[in-house]
Amino acid sequence: MFARSAARALKSQSRQFSSSATRQSKVAVLGAGGGIGQPLSLLLKLNPHVTELSLYDIRGAPGVAADVSHIDTASEVHGYPADKLDQALEGTDVVVIPAGVPRKPGMTRDDLFNTNASIVRDLAAAIARVSPKAKVLVISNPVNSTVPIVSAVFEKAGVYDPAHIFGVTTLDVVRANRFLAGVTGTNPKDVKVTVVGGHSGATIVPLISQTPQGKGVTGEVYDKLVHRIQFGGDEVVQAKDGAGSATLSMAYAGARFTGDLLRAIHGEKGVVVPTFVKSPLFADQGIDFFSSNVELGVRTVLSPNGVEKIHGLGELSESEKKLLDACLPELKKNIEKGKKFVQQS
Ligand code: NAD
Ligand code: LMR
Repeated sequence: MFARSAARALKSQSRQFSSSATRQSKVAVLGAGGGIGQPLSLLLKLNPHVTELSLYDIRGAPGVAADVSHIDTASEVHGYPADKLDQALEGTDVVVIPAGVPRKPGMTRDDLFNTNASIVRDLAAAIARVSPKAKVLVISNPVNSTVPIVSAVFEKAGVYDPAHIFGVTTLDVVRANRFLAGVTGTNPKDVKVTVVGGHSGATIVPLISQTPQGKGVTGEVYDKLVHRIQFGGDEVVQAKDGAGSATLSMAYAGARFTGDLLRAIHGEKGVVVPTFVKSPLFADQGIDFFSSNVELGVRTVLSPNGVEKIHGLGELSESEKKLLDACLPELKKNIEKGKKFVQQS
């Protein structure tokens, strides 16, 4: 009896091992030659879940690929020039998009719309055609509009699965954790702030009151902390003085979110992180994209490995309710602008 159950356990263990060992994850980075794309590609080369890395840019991707490919991890790396987008996308499981122009001092993220909307639309159309089942992780700004753009393009192409398209808002979480640790004298590794809403200024809503470290943070310290989280991007844009926006911290954040998704794809349960997705939370107010804690994982047979469950916001403090009130109308405008752009394209 014991021998039979031990043999069964061993068999199931070896099946589990062989399925995770043989599972392939091809990840493409579109915009791999840029300020974010290069360090992001480097960090993805270090991720053991990535078996193949496909690097595409209108400039410089083959060079970045040659460089990164010398790192002694197992994944294969291929670089593709401007006219080889379809080849870059073939067979991809995850596509990360940091393609597009960054801000200069004095600009808002929405000021990037005119340039980045069409870049993201055209890349999304290629993904929908070549690799329609890929999970798409959108970094290009303005995220509040580019995620609705990618979604609308997929919808137009008849391949839209809302569980597969993610706006990467992880940098807001990373900043919130770091800055809250700073004001409370704690270790950032122990801090886990949920940031909800969108990814620009007032649409970024950190739920500080839900963390043990943030409970006692009030008054001017609280106001300054929230402002710094909401406008952390501007801090970097100003410090870089015309040379772009956050690239290194963003590459870290992008690699972290991609890693979270890959862990879920590879079978880990309970991976819950904030991300900007098609969401029912405020859909009754006409806001059908929203960032909140999302469990990544296997949802249905038709839509494996994406959004498993969208969590609600939990209890909010009075200050957080006010932040949310300020977030919603701006977010709604940004989402509508993205949708309208695709309708008129
Ligand atoms: P960058 O200018 O350094 O790099 C952008 C890259 O995109 C360039 O290499 C460029 O050649 C490439 N590119 C342009 N059009 C392309 C196309 N059609 N196909 C493929 N590649 C194309 O800019 P960056 O600093 O890397 O920032 C990229 C984007 O990420 C910006 O829109 C920026 O605002 C955004 N961003 C988002 C976050 C976030 O939290 N989501 C954080 C930082 C930056
Ligand atoms: C950020 O938050 O750093 C990015 O969205 C880039 C920017 O324009 O601020």
